[in-house]
Amino acid sequence: MCYYRRVEESFTEREIFVPARILNGNAIRDEIYAELKREIADLNAAGIRPGLAAVLVGENAASQIYVRNKIAACEQLGLGSWLKTPSATATTEELLDLIGQLNESDEVDGILVQLPLPDRVDTKTILAAVDPAKDVDGFHPMSLGQLVSGRLCLVACTPAGCMEILRRSGVPIEGADAVVVGRSDIVGKPMALLLMHANATVTICHSKTRDLPDVVRRASIVIAAIGRPAMIQPDWVRPGATVIDVGINRITDAAEAERIFANVPAKLAQFREKGSVLVGDVHPGVAEVAGAITPVPGGVGPLTIAMLMRNTVKAARLRREHGHATPGSVSGAAAAKP
Ligand code: GUN
Repeated sequence: MCYYRRVEESFTEREIFVPARILNGNAIRDEIYAELKREIADLNAAGIRPGLAAVLVGENAASQIYVRNKIAACEQLGLGSWLKTPSATATTEELLDLIGQLNESDEVDGILVQLPLPDRVDTKTILAAVDPAKDVDGFHPMSLGQLVSGRLCLVACTPAGCMEILRRSGVPIEGADAVVVGRSDIVGKPMALLLMHANATVTICHSKTRDLPDVVRRASIVIAAIGRPAMIQPDWVRPGATVIDVGINRITDAAEAERIFANVPAKLAQFREKGSVLVGDVHPGVAEVAGAITPVPGGVGPLTIAMLMRNTVKAARLRREHGHATPGSVSGAAAAKP
């Protein structure tokens, strides 16, 4: 399927095929890093070095890569970083003890507990134990409550990154019909709230949504965060819509790779060479229908890390400005509003 846009040329009008604009997450990330470097230099001049502690429990291979990239970003920006790696057998109590120590440490401005945690650990209890003033992932119930009530402060990184992509790419949000596919605590729910605060009309879809393709087709902004490889099909997308693909799925099955990337020879070549290939939650054919789309990799991923860095810097600033008050105190929230 191809999307043809009407294009005015001199005094004639004709239809030509226009592939989607690729929304380059790496370029937007670089823009944000340049801004952050100035802010970090100001903090350094005041004797403050913002620092992030990452807690990685067990040996989940994907989590190891994500956390390594987060620590590398801290190093690139000159932020302090600490990596804590409790074993997969760590108990909820042991992790609570570790979180308690990080909460107490004055050097640590941000605490990140990489998810998923092992099944035996009570994830909600662990996330609620993080000092809300250091909750750079925005997963604490207090952070979520602040987001619901429009006191934007430490906002979950992936949804915040999606908003940066939309805003910095000039995508109109106010009054737009936005569909969020996926209702996770980490992405779907905060994403819907951010879009709503930006005056979009928001629909949240999930596995039980009836006539999902029809619902998605109504949107001028589609956020795909369902965690299923290539699920959003080209004929689900309204021509010209902006599509933000949050999914990162590794395909290792040859038949699946051949099916998804039938028309993308470069990706198939990559699969044949490496034995695996990444795909988002959006089928590659959507790029021929959408007006703008984020690639996978190189779309939302770099922004998630950029927002983590920004939250760490913000937490460092707010902790000094407001003592140990949580950034959710009304004045703190106002100061933090992006
Ligand atoms: N696992 C998947 N995404 C995330 C994230 O944004 N933060 C954390 N802590 N864990 C994750």
